[in-house]
Amino acid sequence: METRELGVAVVGSGRIGSLRARLAAAHPAVKFLAVSDIDRDRAQRLAEASGAHFASGDNDEVIAHPRVNAVIVSTSEHEHVAPVIRALELGKPVLVEKPIALTLADADKIIAKAESTGTPIRVGYAQRFKRRYLSAKDQILAGRLGEITALTGRACNTRAQGIEILKRSATATPVVDVLTYWVDVAGWFLEGIRPREVSARGHGSVFRAAGFDVNDATFALITYEDGAVVNLGVYFALPAHAPQLGMGVRIEVFGSEGALILNDDHTDELLITNKGIPHAYIPGLEFQTAFLSSSTPGNWHLGDYWGPVADESRVWLDHLARNRACPMATAREARQTLEITLAIEESARTGKTIRLAA
Ligand SMILES: NC(=O)c1ccc[n+]([C@@H]2O[C@H](COP(=O)([O-])OP(=O)(O)OC[C@H]3O[C@@H](n4cnc5c(N)ncnc54)[C@H](O)[C@@H]3O)[C@@H](O)[C@H]2O)c1
Repeated sequence: METRELGVAVVGSGRIGSLRARLAAAHPAVKFLAVSDIDRDRAQRLAEASGAHFASGDNDEVIAHPRVNAVIVSTSEHEHVAPVIRALELGKPVLVEKPIALTLADADKIIAKAESTGTPIRVGYAQRFKRRYLSAKDQILAGRLGEITALTGRACNTRAQGIEILKRSATATPVVDVLTYWVDVAGWFLEGIRPREVSARGHGSVFRAAGFDVNDATFALITYEDGAVVNLGVYFALPAHAPQLGMGVRIEVFGSEGALILNDDHTDELLITNKGIPHAYIPGLEFQTAFLSSSTPGNWHLGDYWGPVADESRVWLDHLARNRACPMATAREARQTLEITLAIEESARTGKTIRLAA
């Protein structure tokens, strides 16, 4: 029942870093909070909003702070590696946002540092914490699906959101940055079974017209060592006014003893108003109709945050403070997911089937 006191540094004070900082500030084990951003003013504003004790434009200053014993890295996708390595060198447990890195070489560097220093690191695949996927995993563990034969899934979102991500990290494509959630979920459901082969095709003109050499749609077939087939696709170029506040998803899992049909499209929850619904992710974009709880990270209510990023953050902090079980992705799982998403992009580009390393 003992609680270890935590001092948390949040590196990257953007959309998700701001959520993580405010959630950390509200956690009973957290006695100290520091935030940083390459944009010092942004870190300062977050410190004021979250009640953080210390803000800096220098990541190393918050990571090395003597009162910090846990580090959350919420920088843009191409800026994860340096702060993660620094925290691991100092032996401070890390939560890094997905994807762990954008190259396998960087992911390997992170894993090597975590293993040589014995420092725990988890990767923020927050969609695992949506209740439907947690309970699906529980049913799989209970054996109600038998042996998984196949999984199929599709994620979609608006071009407005896709372009917002590409503006931040031009190589964080809808496959590497978004389909990654569902490659992670597939790997989690098939835990212990290795992926062997990836084949994919992509097509599109919307992102190219906007100046990004990226497909609007990419669909992949991933084959696992036991023969299981996984078909995952992403379409991120819906019109900007489509009523998505985040991803729409459909996942189906078929096994020798049962199936899971998970409708995560949010089409059963509609908000219609003359007053304007702001999009949490895209400044200035407003709807009159929206799928109510489709915001991917979650929603605010009474100053508290509810949803996958909230549950994930609390579970990770509880894990450090009270040794609570933590179903977050490990660095090795996140590396496997990155390997698959990079292979999907390569296969879509070359038309070839990619054999994954054994
Ligand atoms: N779990 C989820 O639901 C979820 C949702 C969206 C994004 N994400 C992930 O969170 C991460 C951040 O995304 P976001 O939406 O918050 O982006 P964002 O652009 O809102 O924030 C990124 C922040 O990082 C800062 N930054 C960039 N380089 C930095 C550096 N070297 N040092 C310090 N600060 C730096 C930027 O100034 C910005 O404030 C990404 O990895 C993204 O994939 C997760």
